[in-house]
Amino acid sequence: MYKLIDEPEIRRQVAVLGERISGELQDRPLTVVGVLTGSIVLVADVIRQIETPVQVDFVRASSYRGRTTRSRDLTVDAVELPDLSGRDVLLVDDILDTGRTLRALAELLRSRGAASVRTAVLLWKRDRTEADFQPDYFCFAIPDVFVVGYGLDYDGDYRHLPYIAVLEPDDL
Ligand code: XMP
Repeated sequence: MYKLIDEPEIRRQVAVLGERISGELQDRPLTVVGVLTGSIVLVADVIRQIETPVQVDFVRASSYRGRTTRSRDLTVDAVELPDLSGRDVLLVDDILDTGRTLRALAELLRSRGAASVRTAVLLWKRDRTEADFQPDYFCFAIPDVFVVGYGLDYDGDYRHLPYIAVLEPDDL
């Protein structure tokens, strides 16, 4: 396991992200929707950088991977979502890989009446993302390696690390 992005660098980029989001929103209120569980650290950090009124909610989404990586199966538990009609929504996740999770969730939030849905991630595995999708905001583009920390886990562990680390085959 080795460190890919250290804590001060993450802090700097999350501050830049918060400034960009605040600048583009001007004074309009925002609903931040985090994707459980990996987004919790970024959501906690980014909402404190936003200067307009913010509401915060979470959805749980699981995509089936491994043998079914190519499958489009995505289970979303969004029953608790508030009324989003007319709200500007920022959908936040830890990492964008193929883009299927955020694409499906963005569609769902639009169908719940959101006025706009933008996406923000800490990490973007740009080379793996399907061609017609990209995040509105990202902090770091990374290569196709398995990363943990800052909300990202391996089998439930490592989410608490304040930095991003790469797990190597020996760690798995
Ligand atoms: P898609 O392909 O839908 O996937 O963009 C996004 C989800 O994939 C998981 N993911 C990872 N999780 N380290 C992780 O801990 C990684 O390197 C990684 N790559 C993808 C993650 O759950 C994310 O929400």
